[in-house]
Amino acid sequence: MKLNIALLAGDGIGPEVINQAVKVSDAIAKKFGHEINWTPALTGAAAIEAVGEPYPEETHEICEAADAVLFGAIGHPRFDNDPSTKVRPEQGLLKMRQKLGLFANVRPTFTFPSLIDKSPLKKERIEGTDLVFLRELTGGIYFGKRGREDNGNTAYDTCTYTRKEVERLARKGFEIAMQRSKKLCCVDKANVLETSRLWRETVQNLEKEYPEVEVSYEFVDAVAMRLVQWPNSYDVLITENLFGDILTDEASVISGSMGLMPSASLGEKTSLFEPIHGSYPQAAGKDIANPLATVLSAAMMFETAFNLKDEAEAIRKVVNKSLAEGVVTEDLADGGKAYKTSEVGDWLSANI
Ligand code: IPM
Ligand code: MN
Repeated sequence: MKLNIALLAGDGIGPEVINQAVKVSDAIAKKFGHEINWTPALTGAAAIEAVGEPYPEETHEICEAADAVLFGAIGHPRFDNDPSTKVRPEQGLLKMRQKLGLFANVRPTFTFPSLIDKSPLKKERIEGTDLVFLRELTGGIYFGKRGREDNGNTAYDTCTYTRKEVERLARKGFEIAMQRSKKLCCVDKANVLETSRLWRETVQNLEKEYPEVEVSYEFVDAVAMRLVQWPNSYDVLITENLFGDILTDEASVISGSMGLMPSASLGEKTSLFEPIHGSYPQAAGKDIANPLATVLSAAMMFETAFNLKDEAEAIRKVVNKSLAEGVVTEDLADGGKAYKTSEVGDWLSANI
């Protein structure tokens, strides 16, 4: 099979972790007889530096023309510490999500048997955790009207959702639930927010179409607590944009490191695959970042964008093997040998 993939390395550790995912994907392509055509494109701070904007039109055209997009990370401290900055790297990511119509962000949370003791949470609580968040990605407070009033002394960000936006996300949630344990949790704040009441109403209406799915409705604050207390009680969770952003960072603690969790952003056109972690600027250029979240994002890409399940499974298998044999970066080394980012990538591709 011919795979045309847009490669957006982005900022910070982005290029380093992306390189390992490319090595691993190329090894998979060789083993299974595929041909990957990578097309690199600029995004984030790197794009601002080169052409003055974080998601240039040329990058968008490359993404639209590709079968899938593999993405590294975005963000640079130079912009974070200056609230007056008008052009920010993160705007590139948001613009990309919006222009590619990537409305459903799939973020699985699972544990690795060999890492179960790495989590700060008790083993008996997290063992066997296997849940998936479906985070709405192109609406809500991220994209609502925002601004300043009162000579800059009052600021506002508005959260808006249409029934259509909620329905298409929820439908994906029901579909994923049907393929799993048929349990769906709608996360909201319907005791306070009108948008949450629209979410609840929309999901309740959909329940009739999926009678086999057992749906629960829980407030986001309670989910934040139960997620670390009884992660095993959840299977598929659907949530609006900001709640999903926060809860998925929290959930990554269950697996033991944020450097492990992949994601897929699905939409109307090309899908995008990226680690849930950020650009980790302190580690940039040091060859120490954990590449596994990006490598596992590539596995999701093979499976979701190309329906190549054996290829995805082969990646997961070799990742598990590296963890079991202690071929890990410093975040997981725990006093043992810490491998470099590039060494982990080399080991993974050599073992495929
Ligand atoms: C994420 C990130 C982004 C978000 C940032 C970089 C804009 O935190 O993908 O979770 O908030 O969506
Ligand atoms: Mn986030």
